[in-house]
Amino acid sequence: MHILCLNGPNLNLLGLREPSIYGRESLSDLEVRLRHLADQHNTKLTFFQSNHEGALIDKLHWAFHERLDGIIFNPAAYTHTSIALRDAISSIDIPVIEVHISNILERESFRHHSFISDVAIDQILGHGLKGYEMALEKFLGRKGEKEC
Ligand code: DQA
Repeated sequence: MHILCLNGPNLNLLGLREPSIYGRESLSDLEVRLRHLADQHNTKLTFFQSNHEGALIDKLHWAFHERLDGIIFNPAAYTHTSIALRDAISSIDIPVIEVHISNILERESFRHHSFISDVAIDQILGHGLKGYEMALEKFLGRKGEKEC
């Protein structure tokens, strides 16, 4: 099993950026946590962050061509603006779980709408970095189902 964890703009500043909302752990801390869980389940993890919409689209296409099994995606602010990212997800035949560190439904009204939610198989909101582990666990559970 091979999973992509994809993070959008400003998430490279995790740990420094608005810690009261996003916490004090860095993106590298998140990568360590996810790799630990993936390793325990013999699962390959590709971890990628970009501040550029096109680079995120290219990575989604890459995942499609490489036939990955699932994508954990925090599109950050592009969640609320990007039809191009939504179309990229619709164009590829790989399940995507949308993750947000904060609960976007309890924040400013401009964060309530997600262009991604109805093309994703699931949405995990407001669990901090644990939300990414929950998403990976969901994919690992699906692997278990396929093997039965
Ligand atoms: C975020 C929520 C978005 O509204 C915001 O623009 C982000 C981070 C989150 O993980 O809570 O950059 O996706």
